[in-house]
Amino acid sequence: MNTYRLAVIAGDGIGPEVTACAVGALEAAAARHAFKIELTDYDLGSRRYLSTGEVLPDSVQDELAGHDAILLGAVGTPQVAPGILERGLLLRLRFDFDLYVNFRPVKLYPGVPSAIAGLGPDQCDLEVMRENTEGLYSGSGGFLHKDTPHEIANQNSVNTRRGTERIIRYAFDRAMTRDRRLTMCHKTNVLNYAGDLWQRTTDEVAVEYPEVDVDYVHADAACIHLIQSPERFDVMVTDNIFGDILTDLGAAIAGGIGLAASGNLNPTGEFPSLFEPVHGSAPDIVGTGWANPVAAVFTAAMCLDYLGEKEAAFEVEQAAAGVLPELGAMAGPEMGASTSEIGRWIVEAVGIA
Ligand code: NAD
Ligand code: IPM
Ligand code: MN
Repeated sequence: MNTYRLAVIAGDGIGPEVTACAVGALEAAAARHAFKIELTDYDLGSRRYLSTGEVLPDSVQDELAGHDAILLGAVGTPQVAPGILERGLLLRLRFDFDLYVNFRPVKLYPGVPSAIAGLGPDQCDLEVMRENTEGLYSGSGGFLHKDTPHEIANQNSVNTRRGTERIIRYAFDRAMTRDRRLTMCHKTNVLNYAGDLWQRTTDEVAVEYPEVDVDYVHADAACIHLIQSPERFDVMVTDNIFGDILTDLGAAIAGGIGLAASGNLNPTGEFPSLFEPVHGSAPDIVGTGWANPVAAVFTAAMCLDYLGEKEAAFEVEQAAAGVLPELGAMAGPEMGASTSEIGRWIVEAVGIA
């Protein structure tokens, strides 16, 4: 019997609330299938930082590296200056574990109201492949003349041929498993160095995938098309910052940020991949029971799928999708059930659909 070692970083804010539901769904799936899940909780995030000053000790990172996958709730809180936990924990894991694919589906499930009135599930089923280790996130930059009237802050976008090519290649491979349409999204009209590298690399890789229809949209226009005709997209590949922004927009189109899952993948398997909802710690609703746990549960399904447990992954996804039409809204007090109640419904539904 396969045993999967999962590291769980529930993190801050609503992170622990939604992660409890994800873990419940994983355990329910494991109970029905011939595999085991061994969970190790890691106390990382604001509580640890505020009490010890530690964000991600090297020894903990080494332990995380020994797992089959990592499940993360969310990190970040108003009590800690922006960037300390986000860069020190989440981005450090993305970079050090070379999780170069940020895989973000934008899928409208039946019975879920989109932010776009009248949009149906057949019109919204796309996947964003966000470059996850470079671009504006690289940390390259600095201040000159800090705290003077002549202060300069540089934040450089780093784009390597290798980094660009590998995410584009991954997106083409993914498109081959779907409707064989790929859209590269950038700002080639303005970002004349980075955009040029992305365009040339796309054109060169495209030659190896003659079956894939390749398209290009500027990132600003992509916002229009996502709202007006999301069916235009099948697989979208884009850089780190555009992918961040477009997938929050995508989440709203697909029913809300409380439903959006993501995987930070290292396709070589050299390090464990990390699975987390697209949303953050939502300090504005922590403790209210208004957080939708479905994003976290879809994320757990994605993790099972990645580990090769396809059937169990499908059951978890179906169980979570099945509760959505029962909800009065996808978040907030109108949801009609609390985070933990929804989590229980999902656990009961695993394998029953
Ligand atoms: P956020 O995603 O936490 O919240 C944005 C809005 O969405 C809020 O109104 C929130 O209540 C709502 N929301 C989020 N998740 C929800 C859910 N599951 N159900 C219902 N509503 C939900 O983004 P933010 O407010 O910009 O960031 C808050 C903190 O989280 C910051 O510290 C930020 O850096 C951090 N953050 C962390 C991650 C992560 O760990 N992966 C991702 C994004 C933001
Ligand atoms: C996300 C988040 C992160 C990002 C932050 C918390 C570092 O917004 O996963 O989308 O910008 O990538
Ligand atoms: Mn984001």
